[in-house]
Amino acid sequence: MAKISFRVNGKNQTVDAEPDMPLLYALRNDLRLNGPKFGCGLAQCGACTVIMDGNAIRSCVTPMSAVQNKSVTTLEGLGSTKKMHKIQQAFVDEQAAQCGYCINGMIMTAKAFLDRNPRPSEGEVRRALAGNLCRCGTHPRIIDAVMRAARES
Ligand code: FES
Ligand code: FES
Repeated sequence: MAKISFRVNGKNQTVDAEPDMPLLYALRNDLRLNGPKFGCGLAQCGACTVIMDGNAIRSCVTPMSAVQNKSVTTLEGLGSTKKMHKIQQAFVDEQAAQCGYCINGMIMTAKAFLDRNPRPSEGEVRRALAGNLCRCGTHPRIIDAVMRAARES
């Protein structure tokens, strides 16, 4: 066990963890941040995506040893039901969720992408989200939501 300190959604946090424990477990089990989801656990679906130092990463395969002194943003750090981030609002406006399980990853991947490319083409959005899987097949609305967020920002 080691004490691992990092910033989460703007707050300093310290977690006792084995260095190889996935960041996702610390977020969900220790810090009770349940925005990021456990999907595959193998970096293949994107449900667990968070942003670390500006990059969308898969927290299910990110060991705690890689998190020391880093800054992590989860879905909870973007906005809340009372005050939604523009991307969250766009997902609501486009009714982009069905079961909702993939939506954390879609929004967090879109956030990191739009921060770098605020006026993307639809093709660029499709490519940015190509690695995020949605079992409900609601990709067309998800793409529309990201395009709306870009337009309305
Ligand atoms: S749970 Fe991390 S990529 Fe699927
Ligand atoms: S909305 Fe169900 S997995 Fe995407």
